[in-house]
Amino acid sequence: MINGFSKLGKIEKINKISDLRSFNPEDWDEVKRFWHREHATQELIDGFSENVLGNFILPYSVAPNFLINSKEYIIPMVTEESSVVAAASWAARYWFDKDGFKCTVSGTKKNGQIHFLWPANLSDPNNYTTEIEECLMQSVTSVAQNMINRGGSIGDFRFKKLDTVEPYAWCLEIGFETVDSMGANFINSCLETMANALEIWIKKTFNDKSNGFLVVMCILSNYTDDCRVQASISCPVSAFDGLIDGVDGLTFAKRFVHAVDIARVDVFRAVTHNKGIFNGISSVILATGNDFRAVESVGHAWAARSGKYRSLSTAEISNDGIFLFSLDIPMAIGTIGGLTKLHPMAAFSLKLLGNPNVTELMKIVAATGLASNFAAVKALIGGGIQKGHMKLHLSNMLSALNATELEKNMAFRFFVDKTVSYLAVREYIDKIRANSELMNE
Ligand code: MEV
Repeated sequence: MINGFSKLGKIEKINKISDLRSFNPEDWDEVKRFWHREHATQELIDGFSENVLGNFILPYSVAPNFLINSKEYIIPMVTEESSVVAAASWAARYWFDKDGFKCTVSGTKKNGQIHFLWPANLSDPNNYTTEIEECLMQSVTSVAQNMINRGGSIGDFRFKKLDTVEPYAWCLEIGFETVDSMGANFINSCLETMANALEIWIKKTFNDKSNGFLVVMCILSNYTDDCRVQASISCPVSAFDGLIDGVDGLTFAKRFVHAVDIARVDVFRAVTHNKGIFNGISSVILATGNDFRAVESVGHAWAARSGKYRSLSTAEISNDGIFLFSLDIPMAIGTIGGLTKLHPMAAFSLKLLGNPNVTELMKIVAATGLASNFAAVKALIGGGIQKGHMKLHLSNMLSALNATELEKNMAFRFFVDKTVSYLAVREYIDKIRANSELMNE
């Protein structure tokens, strides 16, 4: 048990851990190597979280050639997984001359919840909706002023009985429009202010009869089913002729629809299929400083909205031979607030995207998800994903073996038609190093 750890400075924390783990100063070399050379930038990053000892670097990549609603984008992606960026870039390029991605946003409303116990001797809170709404709106006049000036709003008050939890358990759900910010802090501040106001109102209105009232908790809901974006790609099936060697366009499209239909009915496939969508989505969400846990949790909950977890995307071929692949997904994100402007790389990402507003960013994110999904399913029905994966995998193994440029080129040629494994690559490198020593003798 360590007491008061959070109160220590960074070096003191490091010393404390060194004592506890018997680390030498050199054990920290790697951590220190990734400290930012500019003190001010490191201080900024330290401020994002708690107990920060260093920075955990991930690759910052771009996928060019995305055409979304007739506008070209170079999309920033942060991911540790090889092939994700290559796959998204391939799909972007492929759809570029097929009119690209068509995207729409069907809503941007978020929800907050105040959970409370209602006094048993009072009639339902539904009977006091007008008074409660008036009082709660009044309580947030100053907290919400800025947001309202920017075009935001609060409304749509709904009481929900949760008597399966406890007989007098209720929830007040409130809708929030937070414009270009995700609005998590704003919504939570409003909810806490409103919960206090509700408590004061009930005591003042019902005096002793209000005994039993209790605010259980108030928090935004990440289930943002009214904050949704749609993305689609479409072309005549004949455009797929030859996309897979020796396969005509209609056959390709039918195999593709079949693959997506499997993910509609089979949860084991659906989770992997949707993971492929989030390969794209989460990479852009991270690159723009947004909350990937929020986007992923609502995405998966939405995928299970019918009571069964299904694919987030659907594919079909119309009677007149048009292939349509589409995605409809909730996501609450922002282009202002949070880390979006504070994190220098997130700010750069938004600049690279042309400083989009929130609805434009939602479209960009959804298009990247659909692109990743298209590339993955195409690879799966066209002979598997390993061929593509292995090139980067091989490259990583060669770096780990400190291979020279010449050794790398030789290995790439050698493994072009062979199975890549760490053992096989090490043996191959050992062999060519032994041979070159022999030649040098
Ligand atoms: C790997 O990160 C993602 C895939 O498994 C997605 C899919 O199977 O559709 C290739």
